[in-house]
Amino acid sequence: MKKIILVITLSLSVLGFGQGNTHTQQAGKFEGLAMTPPMGWNSWNTFATNIDEKLVKETADIMVSSGLAAAGYNYIVLDDGWMTKERDSNGDLVADPVKFPNGMKALIDYVHGKGLKFGLYNCAGTQTCAGYPGTRGYEYQDARFYAKLGIDFLKYDWCNTKGITAPEAYTTMSNALKTAGRPIVFSLCEWGDNQPWEWGKPVGNLWRISGDIYPCFDCEFKHPENWSSWGFMKIAEMRKDIRKYSGPDHWNDFDMMEVGNEMNDTEDKSHFAMWCMLSSPLFTGNDYRKMSKETLAILTNKEMIAVNQDKLGIQGFKYSAEDGLEVWVKPLSDNNWAVTFLNRSDVAKKINFDWKKHSFKDVDFGYEADFSKTVFKLKDLWKNKETGNTKKNFVADLASHDSVTLRLIP
Ligand code: GLA
Repeated sequence: MKKIILVITLSLSVLGFGQGNTHTQQAGKFEGLAMTPPMGWNSWNTFATNIDEKLVKETADIMVSSGLAAAGYNYIVLDDGWMTKERDSNGDLVADPVKFPNGMKALIDYVHGKGLKFGLYNCAGTQTCAGYPGTRGYEYQDARFYAKLGIDFLKYDWCNTKGITAPEAYTTMSNALKTAGRPIVFSLCEWGDNQPWEWGKPVGNLWRISGDIYPCFDCEFKHPENWSSWGFMKIAEMRKDIRKYSGPDHWNDFDMMEVGNEMNDTEDKSHFAMWCMLSSPLFTGNDYRKMSKETLAILTNKEMIAVNQDKLGIQGFKYSAEDGLEVWVKPLSDNNWAVTFLNRSDVAKKINFDWKKHSFKDVDFGYEADFSKTVFKLKDLWKNKETGNTKKNFVADLASHDSVTLRLIP
């Protein structure tokens, strides 16, 4: 009898019917999907949950026809509000049939047909921040759902997560995506509350480092429910010291941009310059259908985008701040540097910068520019023209909240 049982047990395990997991689980993010900061459009800043098929198609059309796609923007990401309030009887997520009458797959095919990529949003908790079904307990099922739909990017938020820990929850979803098998950029969005820069590198390709952005230069907007949104300079300031954690395929994400929303063109220009200097992912958050030519010119400035997309992928740092005049610098490949002079104050300022009295030292990445030894040519990246070299002082007038960005070329 014993012999028979042994034979049965052995043959079952040879056939793979033994106890244990026959499903191969993969771990770790898809590597190499975001070697430069991802660029695209996200629906949240302008539309919140008022999103639909028409908006997405028009946005994709304009991304291509306006030159935004040619400038590098290629992800269309639908944020919160794309689902129905309940999962279906199989437990699957459902795209809202009123907002997306032809279904999500057809829309994704449309966006792919334009040569663009597509992203969706969900949350690690039981519900999303806007009250739609969250992923908690459905990680592997949802990952298979996304892979089958053919998405390329998942933003994964952090509302309604009582009782779970961020590194575990994000690792579970990352592994689920990997196991589902379709390469999907994984965008962590837990607002920097659990220091994702310390554990996020094997888990995701980018991570938010702050609470939500607000369309203002330097303000804090206090919500009645006891949380704050932040002007772009507040976010830049708040996370300037975690730059060593950011780099190719693991970016500090300073949030979707507010360019073209409620600030003036001067502030928008400075906002865009800062996101380029900080190597932040560049997600536009405006309504392309109402975009002014000034906004489009800011977002498609190729010289600025080259600073953001530089292959070294080094987040810039604040070199100095004096009397409201800030100098931010960023090492670039080929021993180039980008330098942004930014007037953070409420009054006009004059820059008179004597390069010979300065040297830039990047203590985190080991780069150095010593202007007493090396002369650099200067290129003004908004004017797209050369403007002397570092032998002479750089002199310019800056209105309040204005900035000028130079590329230094040895
Ligand atoms: C959070 C995120 C935002 C956005 C909303 C959606 O606040 O930080 O970027 O995704 O949720 O509800």
